[in-house]
Amino acid sequence: MGLLLLLTSTLLLSYYHPGIVVDAQLFTIRDITLSIEPSTDVPRGTNVTVRCKAIVSSSGQEVLNHKYIIYKGSQEIYTKNSSTSEDLLYLLPEARISNTGKYKCSLDIEGKHATTEFKELRVTGLSKPVLHLNKGVVNEEEEVMARCTAPGETGSIYFFFYKDSQVILEGEASSNQFEAKFRFSTVGIHKIQCAYSVLLMPNSFKSEGSNTVTVSVKELFTPPVLEILPQSKIYEGDHLSFLCTTRNLLDSSEKVHLYLSHGSKLLNSGGTKVNHSMVALAKDSGEFECRQEIRQVVKETKKTISVTELFSAPTLTMSPAEVFQREYMTLTCKSERYASERLTGAELMYTLEPPDSLIPRSPGVFSGKALPYDFNYTCVARAKGIVKHSETLTVRPKVSVSNPKISVYGRAILGQSIKIRCHSDTGSLPINYTLWKDYQLENTTTVKLPTQEAVFTVTIRKPEELNKYMCEAKNKQKDGKLSQRLNATVIVPLSEPTLTILPPISDISEGQVLHLICGTKGTPPVTFKFYRVGNNQPLFTDTSQQNYTSYNVTNLSKEHSGTYYCEAVNPANNVVHTERVTIEVRLPLWKKAMIGGVCLLVVLVLVVVVCVLYFKSKRVRGVRTAVSVWSERPPEAANDEESSVVSSEPDVEYTEVVHPQPADAARVPLRKGTDTVYSELKNPPHGVAGHHDYGSVEYAELNGERPEISHHLSEVNNYQDLPVPVD
Ligand SMILES: *[C@@H]1O[C@H](CO)[C@@H](O)[C@H](O)[C@H]1NC(C)=O
Ligand SMILES: *[C@@H]1O[C@H](CO)[C@@H](O)[C@H](O)[C@H]1NC(C)=O
Ligand SMILES: *[C@@H]1O[C@H](CO)[C@@H](O)[C@H](O)[C@H]1NC(C)=O
Ligand SMILES: *[C@@H]1O[C@H](CO)[C@@H](O)[C@H](O)[C@H]1NC(C)=O
Repeated sequence: MGLLLLLTSTLLLSYYHPGIVVDAQLFTIRDITLSIEPSTDVPRGTNVTVRCKAIVSSSGQEVLNHKYIIYKGSQEIYTKNSSTSEDLLYLLPEARISNTGKYKCSLDIEGKHATTEFKELRVTGLSKPVLHLNKGVVNEEEEVMARCTAPGETGSIYFFFYKDSQVILEGEASSNQFEAKFRFSTVGIHKIQCAYSVLLMPNSFKSEGSNTVTVSVKELFTPPVLEILPQSKIYEGDHLSFLCTTRNLLDSSEKVHLYLSHGSKLLNSGGTKVNHSMVALAKDSGEFECRQEIRQVVKETKKTISVTELFSAPTLTMSPAEVFQREYMTLTCKSERYASERLTGAELMYTLEPPDSLIPRSPGVFSGKALPYDFNYTCVARAKGIVKHSETLTVRPKVSVSNPKISVYGRAILGQSIKIRCHSDTGSLPINYTLWKDYQLENTTTVKLPTQEAVFTVTIRKPEELNKYMCEAKNKQKDGKLSQRLNATVIVPLSEPTLTILPPISDISEGQVLHLICGTKGTPPVTFKFYRVGNNQPLFTDTSQQNYTSYNVTNLSKEHSGTYYCEAVNPANNVVHTERVTIEVRLPLWKKAMIGGVCLLVVLVLVVVVCVLYFKSKRVRGVRTAVSVWSERPPEAANDEESSVVSSEPDVEYTEVVHPQPADAARVPLRKGTDTVYSELKNPPHGVAGHHDYGSVEYAELNGERPEISHHLSEVNNYQDLPVPVD
């Protein structure tokens, strides 16, 4: 390093600053070394010298100013300016362990630097600590002053104090001695010692133990005396007296305090004597303490007493375990245990609270009616001035069931399963529900939660059967409550649908009003749909509160010919279809008659023309052969016309057609009449469509079976609404 510096400084001065070279004295620090004498490893107390030696070469005679710095670790510990070329000496007289460390030296001459390497000094050995106490004999809790010294040691020192080999105090000192104060709470001879540690980061070096100093601690006073009477077999109600006194007080001038306490409760306090008396209770079992304080010294005496129960806290019970509102109940108050050596059972008195709520029957037994609401009872047992309460008994009277209501859950459809619900509006749970059918038990269920429902499933074969069901609700042994009989509508599924046509299908002609009447067995409301075969859309839809309806076509024409049927559905949701009925609309009579008349007229004209021609020709030309054709022709033509006009329809129809007035029948308020008529249609009208005398058959039936219907009919007849039937 020295070589490098030399080189650098020479170069710098000679080449880059030629002006300085002329003015300043030339010099160079050739070498600098640090040495530790007499050795780098020395025992404690050695006079150690740190020597810094520099070799400087200069051109002139003038002595340059040398600035030395000695470092210990990274810390400057010594600085010296010297104008001699002598070595720098840094003295460590009587070196201590705290001088242990790495040293280096640096030199500065007019801006030129040189530094040595580190050299480590190791000092071994610590001096024995010295302990001094200001007192050898003390009272307990009396303060003692102790001083521990580490002779000659320097640096950062940490002190420890020991009492009977246990550390009692420690602390860091700023010098080589430490003072501490302590008190002794235990009586007797104690051995006190101290030691120290020198901190040399990262290590510490601990000294040996100091000289041992003994301290004799005298007792200031003995614990107080606690007397409790009686000493044993304490029962509740017994008179207890406590007396707490001091004893062996050495110095009567001392200020004494006594405290008598039980748990956290201070019973009494005073000077040299404290007393307390009380009636023993079971809860008083436990520790009692008498505490004596003089100056800082506290001493206590404890005694534990056990108080035997004279009688146990009563328990209040109810019988029966469950009671309904306004029913009889009995409450029993009883102390399970009592000290028979002190107490006879008869001495125990029981009362119920609130008083007068029930009637006392015998000691501790009270009876009466349960209130209609929740009520709290407690009972009290008393003997020898001791009063004990039972826990609160809350009587929660149950509520009897009300008469249940029976109803159908959802819909009752004949032939399908029917859900029957039974429910009492009031009544404590659990409630047993029973389903009866004509007093025959069908099923039973128990409702335990408010969210539950009693629902029974039954199936009936006839609508009347539903009315036979009743249900019963019960929440106690006896007294079940019955419901009414089940009153609900039974939906009878649809069956036997029929489509009736008016007028009869054989007699339907243009211009008439056609009634398509659809009827079915089953429960209304029924939705009817009339269809014509070939159309997907119904012609007419009607929801009827009866089980039939009619669809009327006015002003019939040929186009209405076709096949019709009807579909019906009711809340039972079964769809039924009627048979298909084919209708052919014919020409009306007057048209036929007119055609017949016209034909006759034509024939007549022809005959006349032929006759005229014949006679004319006979008269003009005599006999001709061609006439034979014409002589035969008229009767044939007449026959042809007759068969086409008259015989194409059955004779009977003509006789009927003369009478009915179908157009009129449509115009009158037929609805009423039709309704009445078709209430009968439940009995399927056999071959109604095929009857010629359509009215007479139906009306004859009606007259025989339902007088009220005939009444309506007579009205209808009066109006001349319906065609007069013809046999
Ligand atoms: C150390 O130096 C002191 C004087 O500074 C001297 O009295 C002492 O005897 C020396 N100790 C040793 C061990 O040489
Ligand atoms: C305490 O003792 C004194 C007599 O020493 C007596 O008069 C007093 O009644 C006692 N007090 C109690 C609470 O026992
Ligand atoms: C009964 O006592 C309980 C507490 O023990 C209280 O919460 C309740 O309200 C009381 N009931 C009546 C009816 O007084
Ligand atoms: C059945 O219920 C209907 C109404 O839902 C009521 O008019 C009728 O009187 C009840 N019948 C009986 C026997 O309770």
